[in-house]
Amino acid sequence: MSEPSAPVRSGRPLALVTGASGGIGEELARLAARDGHDLVLVARRAERLEELAAELRRDGAEVEVVAADLESDAGQAAVEARLAEPGGRRPVDVLVNNAGFGTVGRFVDLPVEGELAQIALNVSALVRLTRAVLPRLVDAGRGGVLNVASLASFEPGPGMATYSATKAFVLSFTEAVREEVVGSGVRVCALCPGFTHTGFQERAGVRTDGLAGLAALAWQDAPEVARAGWEGFAADRAVTVPGSLNKAAAFSVRFAPRSAVRKLSARVVRQLH
Ligand SMILES: NC(=O)c1ccc[n+]([C@@H]2O[C@H](COP(=O)([O-])OP(=O)(O)OC[C@H]3O[C@@H](n4cnc5c(N)ncnc54)[C@H](OP(=O)(O)O)[C@@H]3O)[C@@H](O)[C@H]2O)c1
Repeated sequence: MSEPSAPVRSGRPLALVTGASGGIGEELARLAARDGHDLVLVARRAERLEELAAELRRDGAEVEVVAADLESDAGQAAVEARLAEPGGRRPVDVLVNNAGFGTVGRFVDLPVEGELAQIALNVSALVRLTRAVLPRLVDAGRGGVLNVASLASFEPGPGMATYSATKAFVLSFTEAVREEVVGSGVRVCALCPGFTHTGFQERAGVRTDGLAGLAALAWQDAPEVARAGWEGFAADRAVTVPGSLNKAAAFSVRFAPRSAVRKLSARVVRQLH
């Protein structure tokens, strides 16, 4: 974990993006900057964050870099403090809880450490950071929280049991908190990507070429997913599912029998092994 590399000036809204060192988070940070925000970039790989910070600074944004492991209590506490007690630094107006990862395999075969690490990052860090920033946002009557959930939020995921459960939590939590603060001027929104080409697959150790049928056609890239998410957040949409096939999938599981959804979901995840 490191201290922020530079203080930021006032005048533009400030967005803190977790998992900004790659994939969807990096693109969300670019979009926020393009949209007139200064940035606090959070992830473990400081050098990747510094490269992005240099790019965004060239485009006129002020950028802080906070290298922190959000699976750890210390890393969560550091970012929590940045959000809750800015001290002499500028308060954060927009929190993007994007950092996350998944493991693939039968739950009985997976080391429990990885399962617990997913809960720590995908759930605990997200709750802790949201709790740290939200009171001040509600008091101010502006700003917001964008939580990155998943298409997996809508169904149980045999083969990705813990991951899917964490993402079901993220969606449920986001919708509930949104309703609690409705009318306050604060936006609380969820982005639910489907299969997106990022570093996610490498960390999960999955194949990206094994999908057949509609699932194979549903792949998207990080910039288009981030764009849909950022636009959904700007429009204060509760839930954004990018891509028409993903939208259809999220919609149809509401009406299909749960037993059929479980089996279909298992079949899709098996193709990733
Ligand atoms: N790609 C997909 O198919 C897909 C589908 C649905 C939902 N999502 C969700 O989208 C979000 C972004 O994932 P992505 O697809 O962009 O994957 P990615 O390319 O692997 O990016 C993940 C980001 O999270 C950061 N991160 C991982 N572990 C961390 C930790 N312990 N502490 C702090 N930061 C950490 C990574 O940075 P460092 O490694 O530098 O820490 C990286 O910046 C995740 O929440 C994921 O669950 C992805």
